[in-house]
Amino acid sequence: MKPNPIQWILIFTIFSLTFSCKEKSKEKDQNTMIKDWHSAAKPEEAVVTHEDLDLKIDFEKKVIEGIAMLSVWNKSKGTELYIDTRNLEITNIFLEKDGNKTEFEFLEEKPFMGKPLKIKISNSEKQKVIIVYKTTQNSDALQWLEPSQTAGKKHPFLFTQGQAILSRTWFPCQDSPGIRFTWSANVNLKNELEAIMSSEIRSADSTTGRYHFEMPKPVPAYLVALAAGNLAFQKIDDRTGVFAEPEMLEKSAYEFGEMGKMVSAAEKLYGQYRWGRYDVLVLPPSFPFGGMENPCVTFATPTILAGDRSLTSLIAHELAHSWSGNLVTNATWDDFWLNEGFTVYFERRIMEELEGKNYADMLAVLGHQELTGTLEDLGNKSESTHLKLKLTGKDPDDGMNDIAYEKGYLFLYHLENLVGREKWDAFVKKYFDDNAFQSMTTESFVEYLKSNLLHINQISEEKAAVASWIYQPGLPAGYQIPSSLRFQSAGNAAQKFGQTGKIDKSQTQMWSSHEWLHFLRALPKTVDKTQMAVLDDNFNFTQSGNNEILFEWLNLSIKNQYLPAYLALDKFLTHIGRRKFVLPLYKELLKTQEGKALATKIFDHSKANYHSVTRQSVEGLF
Ligand code: BES
Ligand code: ZN
Repeated sequence: MKPNPIQWILIFTIFSLTFSCKEKSKEKDQNTMIKDWHSAAKPEEAVVTHEDLDLKIDFEKKVIEGIAMLSVWNKSKGTELYIDTRNLEITNIFLEKDGNKTEFEFLEEKPFMGKPLKIKISNSEKQKVIIVYKTTQNSDALQWLEPSQTAGKKHPFLFTQGQAILSRTWFPCQDSPGIRFTWSANVNLKNELEAIMSSEIRSADSTTGRYHFEMPKPVPAYLVALAAGNLAFQKIDDRTGVFAEPEMLEKSAYEFGEMGKMVSAAEKLYGQYRWGRYDVLVLPPSFPFGGMENPCVTFATPTILAGDRSLTSLIAHELAHSWSGNLVTNATWDDFWLNEGFTVYFERRIMEELEGKNYADMLAVLGHQELTGTLEDLGNKSESTHLKLKLTGKDPDDGMNDIAYEKGYLFLYHLENLVGREKWDAFVKKYFDDNAFQSMTTESFVEYLKSNLLHINQISEEKAAVASWIYQPGLPAGYQIPSSLRFQSAGNAAQKFGQTGKIDKSQTQMWSSHEWLHFLRALPKTVDKTQMAVLDDNFNFTQSGNNEILFEWLNLSIKNQYLPAYLALDKFLTHIGRRKFVLPLYKELLKTQEGKALATKIFDHSKANYHSVTRQSVEGLF
């Protein structure tokens, strides 16, 4: 019998595991220093080092029934273990040692944090605790999709989204990015659907619906992910491939055809890819993010399937997280910029390798435009524009914004310019190697930066303006603003259109989707309805198959009350759950009375389609 695709992956994985030297996370006990406000765990006393999950997925009841076996390192040899949970039903807790039930209690429930479990354990240093549990309707990490919400329309679909603090809603864990553990999972499906998890090792017995996953590298809880649905696989090359519903597979495999090259480019820049395979799972359109860097298998929105590979820098971004984020991880969500700033920087370097500097410059300019908008919204003095955040008492989901990404990028770009690319690249590579499988606080990063880059190059901290970038609002005076040669044509065309209402179509022939985005953003703040119609007649924006362009156009249409685009707007908001698109459109609608009525109507019939992350954010706006 020929192995099926999943079996091939297993064979490959076992092969690569046997022949690559196994990663050994340094036996350094990090947990004594870092305090994460967003977790009730006390890792300095007792920390979970491994979890074995046994999961039964029931699509009819929309419940996962789970048994979690936690390997505990009881450092203090005390008798208490603290585990994060939120909206989980706990049936029983046993100690493996004697098979007896043990006492547990829920501590006080806090909004968005959930109810921590305090479990009585024995005083031995190494032990296992078994938690029998069920997810509930309010397990917010999970989105259960009806067949009508999928491409195939015949089968249900389930996916999880753990970041930032939602993993505790689908399995009991110490849910802090500063706590890493290895894990395995058995997944049971009743029907013929396929399951996939963010693990290095995967195996399947499709006749019984039993799947097995193993992650031998220590990861934080937010990087444990699961999806199940009617999934097919297509390889791109020996170590990359695409999972998607069969209806989406060919399109996805074409779109991501350069993935292998991206991994090689990334390795050339900052060292070996350490996670075995790199695959992408294309989810249904309600997925609340563009992409999520789940190890070994990025979860991605189908809204980047433009048909021309023009939006694939998102894949470069999620791939880059395999170093910045998954290998070296922000210790708390206050240090989120370490994950995202490095990743945006790395993403643009990968795109520069693949497409050249002029291409990467376009991405940097678009990012800078978004940052400028965010700074205007938040105000130049706001604490939420610091790189180092203060999320104590806040839901990290509300506190995290563009700043970590784009101000983080600009800071690293500034450091590159200070020392030159060669020294900078050597530093970044060493940073990933020296801190692999560790967590990093902003402060430990600054120490590392001083010792390994600034001092040896005789650059003072003041000259590097480190404190100002990290602990001050807005942007330091005189920072280097990204610019793009390729945007000149689109910028000029937008300005000219603003003045004359005319556009020379021939010059637009060579524009990529980035140039179109720049054009739309560079138009005057108000464009009258006839001019909107001229643009639409010429370039068919309302029918655009490129969701980034369509989003920008719909935004402009709301601003200028261009009603012919409203049907497309309704369809877009009903169909797509990607928060980056959905939120700004509702926000724009809510600025006027008529807009508000429309927003309410659309939200009423769309909210069932949204993941909790998107739904709650939109509710926040109303
Ligand atoms: N890790 C993020 C997504 C995320 C951030 C989820 C915070 C939950 C909380 C992911 O890598 C990301 O940044 N995705 C972006 C795309 C990227 C190209 C900027 C997105 O989803 O739009
Ligand atoms: Zn990211």
